[in-house]
Amino acid sequence: MQLEKFTYDNKIVRNFGIAAVIWGIIGMLVGLLVALQLFKPEMNMGNQYTTFGRIRPLHTNAVIFAFVGNAIFMGVYYSLQRLLKARMFSDTLSKIHFWGWQLIIISAVITLPLGFTSSHEYAELEWPIDIAITLIWVVFGINMFGTIIKRRERHMYVAIWFYIATFVTIAVLHIVNSFQLPISFLKSYYIYAGVQDALVQWWYGHNAVAFFLTTPYLGMMYYFLPKMANRPVYSYKLSILHFWSLIFIYIWAGPHHLLYTALPGWAQSLGVVFSIMLIAPSWGGMINGLLTLRGAWDKVREDVTLKFMVVALTAYGMATFEGPMLSLKQINAIAHLTDWIVAHVHVGALGWNGFLTFGVLYWLIPRLYKTELYSKKLASFHFWIGTLGILFYAIPMYWAGFTQGLMWKEFLPEGLLKYPNFLATTIQIIPLHITRGIGGALYLIGALVMTYNLAKTMLKGKLVANEPAEAMPLPVVIEEHPDDKKWHRKLERKPIKFMIISLIVILFGGMVEMMPTFTIDANVPTISTVKPYTPLELQGRDLYIREGCVGCHTQTVRPFRSETERYGEYSKAGEYVYDHPFLWGSKRTGPDLHRVGQKYSNAWHYNHMLDPTSMAPGSIMPAYDWFITQKLDTSTTASKIQAMQRLGVPYPDGFDKEANQNLMNQANEIAADLQKANIQVKSDREIIALIAYLQRLGTDIKLNRQTIPSNQ
Ligand code: HEC
Repeated sequence: MQLEKFTYDNKIVRNFGIAAVIWGIIGMLVGLLVALQLFKPEMNMGNQYTTFGRIRPLHTNAVIFAFVGNAIFMGVYYSLQRLLKARMFSDTLSKIHFWGWQLIIISAVITLPLGFTSSHEYAELEWPIDIAITLIWVVFGINMFGTIIKRRERHMYVAIWFYIATFVTIAVLHIVNSFQLPISFLKSYYIYAGVQDALVQWWYGHNAVAFFLTTPYLGMMYYFLPKMANRPVYSYKLSILHFWSLIFIYIWAGPHHLLYTALPGWAQSLGVVFSIMLIAPSWGGMINGLLTLRGAWDKVREDVTLKFMVVALTAYGMATFEGPMLSLKQINAIAHLTDWIVAHVHVGALGWNGFLTFGVLYWLIPRLYKTELYSKKLASFHFWIGTLGILFYAIPMYWAGFTQGLMWKEFLPEGLLKYPNFLATTIQIIPLHITRGIGGALYLIGALVMTYNLAKTMLKGKLVANEPAEAMPLPVVIEEHPDDKKWHRKLERKPIKFMIISLIVILFGGMVEMMPTFTIDANVPTISTVKPYTPLELQGRDLYIREGCVGCHTQTVRPFRSETERYGEYSKAGEYVYDHPFLWGSKRTGPDLHRVGQKYSNAWHYNHMLDPTSMAPGSIMPAYDWFITQKLDTSTTASKIQAMQRLGVPYPDGFDKEANQNLMNQANEIAADLQKANIQVKSDREIIALIAYLQRLGTDIKLNRQTIPSNQ
């Protein structure tokens, strides 16, 4: 049989690489801005488009889906072609994939600052963009499987197993977590409510970490590390074992984000058990990577790309040890909702994803341009300043997390909270937030230096857009190796079967956790006094969503004495049954708000939203003066009520038609009450709806509390 000649598409790899660098810089810049806002509220820049709640999701989406996303496609498109000895299935699909993905990112950059958000963390984009993501993901899948089918290599190498698992799992996660009922072009309600919505979201959220930030990167590690070190992977058996156990176990771990919430206890426990087990397969991957370098340490000393890989793997090992520890209830009780988690995810993001991407870029770009890297010195500088940046980021955040966790729980010998004023705990950690900002800036400087270095390298060389290659076509008549009869070797020749088995493996955990929570009523006991929101409160809630208040405030009081003393009765599953979406949050920069209803007067809220420092001196909460100037959009009220009715919220028949009248009545009452405190505001302003919502929060079950007037 004759060798076939063909070419590898390097241009698409280069394009994804450039996109990763550009979006990476933008994502990090926005990250730096939100970091500054947490100690200097002026950095919210006094307008709604750059306020913390709106641009924090921009930062997370940019670094996850734009920076890491493009880096994944760069790595997959490069390695897949070589591992399969085939050009990508279709150049047109490659282009549609590339430009489609960039357009999705641009639509995120536009819609998130404008306040269009579904509020599900890491899935904030509204429904039309969700559909676009699905379509482009399918394009990627067809292109990948098309290439696998026309391959010239019999077996799929371990990197490709990880790519396949990534493809199927992200598809499932994204679709299930996007079930929304559209109300208008850029607004929708999740079909699930409360506890169930929370479970779906964190099943998604945790597995976005697993199957977007981890599995494709493990695949890249398996391809690029042996290439860079010029050594075979340490253990093939270990790769089989840790691949299947990783994808099976990961999917169960979501509920560890919901410990001590109203999620049924059995689901929390399952999440904990599987999270602990995850150490083994995660470390399997790290060990397989690090031991690939055994005997090559001299190389590591000289080669900066390998240095990046070693730190990446070490960070991966640390983060995947810490994750299971954070899932232990005792540790979670202190760490959850604090900056500890921010430290944890940044060890993963900056160390594992960032450094692995940098390592691959330094290795890849000179090869695509058939030249040497412009400057090894600058790359080495990047390595050290980046490492320093990670330390300056992570250490203060750990410190801040411990501080918050301890201060929130500290009691005086008399049995009273030592820090009853939540703000004291926020102000205490401001110096640590400043240090973290410095860490972030160092890391960003490193990335900028890399950009310069890579640009110079590109200018020095010339892109080999179509790299010539040759290989035997399949089927090749070769002696069957005795190993080829082993079950896994057989499976490695069957891509579709491989995909279906992966799919079954990953569906299992999610189904076991979700089915009972969705179908057995005892898991969400109803409370008869819990009633749907009034139209005005519903509109206020949507403003709360628009502004991303959920980025700083939780709405779930955990059953600890320190929390029931501070906030009131702990939160019950039945209280959230009309919450489409749930708004439990994941971080407390400000206090929990689930029991804030009736705690303060309307006037207090009015003044606080206009200028938080007037009510809470030293507050870092941004001012929201546009709530007072902007008119509430009531044209949507009827369709919102109808949508809620369709989702099972028991408004009376025909209520949608009277909803706006009802809304105005309640608004007039609040405006009149504000007038008593000498505040003149028209009843059609947004602030009125927001106050209505805040005053309703957590009041459906009986609370014994006196309202604090505005002058206290
Ligand atoms: C950058 C973080 C941040 C964002 C974003 C934020 N807040 Fe706050 N919030 C705080 C902090 C810190 C406090 C405590 C100090 C204070 O009262 O201002 C606070 C306090 C509050 C309180 C008083 C709670 C109590 O029990 O005393 C309310 C109510 C509140 N915020 C509502 C909101 C709403 C509504 C939004 C969105 C429109 C919002 N916050 C956005 C940080 C934030």
